[in-house]
Amino acid sequence: MQLEQATVIAHAPIQGSYNLLQMRAPGVAARVQPGQFIHVKVPYLEECILRRPFSIFRADGESLSILYKDVGKGTRTLQYLEPGESLSILGPLGHGFPEVSAGHFPVLIAGGYGMAALYLVAQRSPVKGVAFFGGRSAQDILCVPEFEALGWKVLVTTEDGSLGQRGLVTDALDAWWAREGSAHSPELFVCGPGGMLKAAARRAEERNCPAWTSVDNNMGCGVGACLTCVLKVKDGESWTWARACREGPVFNSRDILWEELA
Ligand SMILES: Cc1cc2nc3c(=O)[nH]c(=O)nc-3n(C[C@H](O)[C@H](O)[C@H](O)COP(=O)(O)OP(=O)(O)OC[C@H]3O[C@@H](n4cnc5c(N)ncnc54)[C@H](O)[C@@H]3O)c2cc1C
Ligand code: FES
Repeated sequence: MQLEQATVIAHAPIQGSYNLLQMRAPGVAARVQPGQFIHVKVPYLEECILRRPFSIFRADGESLSILYKDVGKGTRTLQYLEPGESLSILGPLGHGFPEVSAGHFPVLIAGGYGMAALYLVAQRSPVKGVAFFGGRSAQDILCVPEFEALGWKVLVTTEDGSLGQRGLVTDALDAWWAREGSAHSPELFVCGPGGMLKAAARRAEERNCPAWTSVDNNMGCGVGACLTCVLKVKDGESWTWARACREGPVFNSRDILWEELA
């Protein structure tokens, strides 16, 4: 982990309320593992001392990028950043996704900007599998060509039917599992809203299949000191607290007490 002054290389809206911010950050970019995140100090937002966490979407040589959705004060203000300006980032943070286990077939499941945490998994995996992308509408389905260019099959679902199959991402997953699942030994890599994580974890448990889930609990410090981000995980017959920013954000889905996750 290091604190680095990054320089904006490119910054533009991509679709709907999503933006792509590419920055030069050689120190952080060199160490990134899939599923890790950076903690960003939003410039021009001096009254807000808290940094904002974002998954590292891509890391190429000395640069890295994040893909973020405008949801509030920080992400709205971030959009003012112009190429050449600098911003303070802390990273790479957290425990990311492991490599796909030997003999398993990787299955990525993403809701909305969840695909940002999965791009490096897709890029670095020696086995190219299948990716399920879901969202409310077409505006929430991002970067399908980028995943396809890496050799992944991408299946899209939207709740309003504006792109791909109408329904939930887990509907498409269920259909695929019934059709092809038994021919593979799926291993799930999941990032998205809590409900989607729970639904994917339940399917993994029912089918006794390994699953790795990235939670995006609200964060304060991002480095394990404030306990803002804790969730309950199993500890033998009992449970204990784990910090999403340090022990996560990626957890073995079997370890999380899903019924307790906010
Ligand atoms: C490990 C991790 C990785 C993340 N990766 C990405 C990413 O790649 N792209 C991206 O767009 N966002 C990502 N997020 C979420 C992002 O951090 C929040 O959207 C951002 O901090 C909101 O800041 P804000 O000041 O704009 O919103 P605020 O003004 O702080 O909040 C606006 C609204 O967003 C909600 N909100 C705030 N933080 C979160 C959160 N963590 N999850 C869900 N809702 C939240 C608030 O409850 C509120 O309703 C990630 C979060 C975590 C913890
Ligand atoms: S955000 Fe402070 S401990 Fe995790």
